[in-house]
Amino acid sequence: ELSPIDKAKFVAAKRAAEMVEDGMRVGLGTGSTAAWLVRCLGEMVQKDGLKITAVPTSSRTAALARDVGINVVSLDEAKWLDMTIDGADEFDADLNLIKGGGGAHLQEKIVATASDQMVVIADASKSVETLGAFPLPVEVLRFGWQSSQALIEETLVSMDVMGRSTTLRMNGEAPFVTDEGNYILDLHLNRIGNARQLALVLNQIPGVIENGLFIDICDTVVIGYGDGRVEVRD
Ligand code: A5P
Repeated sequence: ELSPIDKAKFVAAKRAAEMVEDGMRVGLGTGSTAAWLVRCLGEMVQKDGLKITAVPTSSRTAALARDVGINVVSLDEAKWLDMTIDGADEFDADLNLIKGGGGAHLQEKIVATASDQMVVIADASKSVETLGAFPLPVEVLRFGWQSSQALIEETLVSMDVMGRSTTLRMNGEAPFVTDEGNYILDLHLNRIGNARQLALVLNQIPGVIENGLFIDICDTVVIGYGDGRVEVRD
């Protein structure tokens, strides 16, 4: 028996999996909700003979997808995708997102923007009025990362954000390292007044590789509830 939160993630994932059609090229997101999707799609491939080509957004998702029998290729092999389905850490009423809680937002953003459609799957707790309570992940190059951090903090002073502290993401005693070999700074902002501007400004800072704001990228959010209900917003 699933806990209410897992049930919510599962029903959202299942509904999104039903949007996938035979022959599609599909981007597979990263995280605990996306893992449910990968397992659902694996079952459809094994049991119903669904034919898909998938592009994973992390080494973790690639391993899981192969495990459940999904045909995995690189984005360059696929070239373009019909649909990417991924989780999110927050979504607002305009379907703008914060992603990167799992540290995979760089690949996730590249894959999502190489897709005709991005569908987000989430439990209802991810819905927010204003983005920013969840710390905003920013992937930075290891070289001179503290200089990039100082420039980010300077930039935050000039922006409409409430919090300004930034922390290097850790993995136990050592810094967390992304699939691309970079570090992640988490920006504790509380409330992001102008997400569109912040997303642009952050990516101008030398050493910043990609921030976790997804603006005008997501087309549909499938929201799951603990009682098994599903709501689709687009
Ligand atoms: C991974 O980098 C993130 O963007 C995930 O999509 C996000 O953290 C959602 O994860 P959960 O589904 O585990 O909440």
